[in-house]
Amino acid sequence: MNFEKLIEYATMAPSGHNTQPWKFSAEDHEIRIYPDHNRSLPVVDPDDHALYISLGCALENLIIAAKQDGLKSSAEYFPPDEKEECIRVTLFQNGEPGDDELFNVIPVRQSNRSLYNEKKIPGDYVRKLTEASQFDSVKIKTFDANHKVTEPVIDLVKEGNRVQFSDQDFVEELISWIRFTRKEMNERNDGLSAEVMGFPFVPRWFGRFILKTFAKPESEASKAEKQLRSSSLLMLFISKKNDKKHWIETGRSFQRVVLTATSLGIVHAHLNMPCEVETVRKKLSAHLGLNNDEQPLLLIRFGYAKELPRSPRRPIDEVILKSNTV
Ligand SMILES: Cc1cc2nc3c(=O)[nH]c(=O)nc-3n(C[C@H](O)[C@H](O)[C@H](O)COP(=O)(O)O)c2cc1C
Repeated sequence: MNFEKLIEYATMAPSGHNTQPWKFSAEDHEIRIYPDHNRSLPVVDPDDHALYISLGCALENLIIAAKQDGLKSSAEYFPPDEKEECIRVTLFQNGEPGDDELFNVIPVRQSNRSLYNEKKIPGDYVRKLTEASQFDSVKIKTFDANHKVTEPVIDLVKEGNRVQFSDQDFVEELISWIRFTRKEMNERNDGLSAEVMGFPFVPRWFGRFILKTFAKPESEASKAEKQLRSSSLLMLFISKKNDKKHWIETGRSFQRVVLTATSLGIVHAHLNMPCEVETVRKKLSAHLGLNNDEQPLLLIRFGYAKELPRSPRRPIDEVILKSNTV
């Protein structure tokens, strides 16, 4: 695999609203991943934690793909000798044999926002998922989606949803990343296409009208509740500190877990609302007895459902910095 191919695997990573907030460069035996702040989400992600989580997901894909290719990697976060803030990945020959299970599902993993079929995930699979994380900087809590101890978390999911859909800036930012027509999707290759959101392609003015008219706080909260109750398991990723290194490792941990889930035929989607709205995040932390440093940053539901259409990705020549040789 050449470096372009490794970068292509990195770009298959998930990112908030599919912003793909990354740039790459490749030189000799190093690949650099840069945050692309032109693709940030100032309303839903004002401190950029989701942006750095997305970089962590891309980094983990890159490392898994390199390993598959017999390359060992070492990642340095924000080395001070770099001109620009980046993650520097150094690749060495003679790595250990690759991890086929995770590598093979990198292109298959997807966020699945449909209703799931309520089938239970067996206990040994739940254990495999939590063991996949592998980062001490990240704590994972699991909840049975349909147990009564989970009810307070469900209430916070709904509360977060109500806050977000009452905020016109949130709705406008979301609309700006929805690709309502097939043409928009094919031209931009980013964002949330109508079909992955579960509605047909329609002209932008009409999609906007529908969203503004029908995506109301109460209806969205009840939709999220139904999605949650159709799932089997909730997993909360808690970053042990609130800084960029921990956000990146939260992304790496999350990516390993969802790739493992995919390899077991389990689908997943985000229910991040209680993590995204700061006041609700504080309530969630208090409910779980977390300390002041610990931040619950990703809430993911898992279960079983049919595959959905895929989200697009920008071609790699749009994300590789031109001045570097690849
Ligand atoms: C940090 C982060 C936050 C996300 N937040 C949400 C979310 O709040 N709601 C949601 O439906 N999807 C969320 N997603 C999923 C992205 O929308 C999804 O990864 C992106 O659209 C690409 O689609 P794919 O995962 O199917 O490749 C999030 C992903 C990441 C990495």
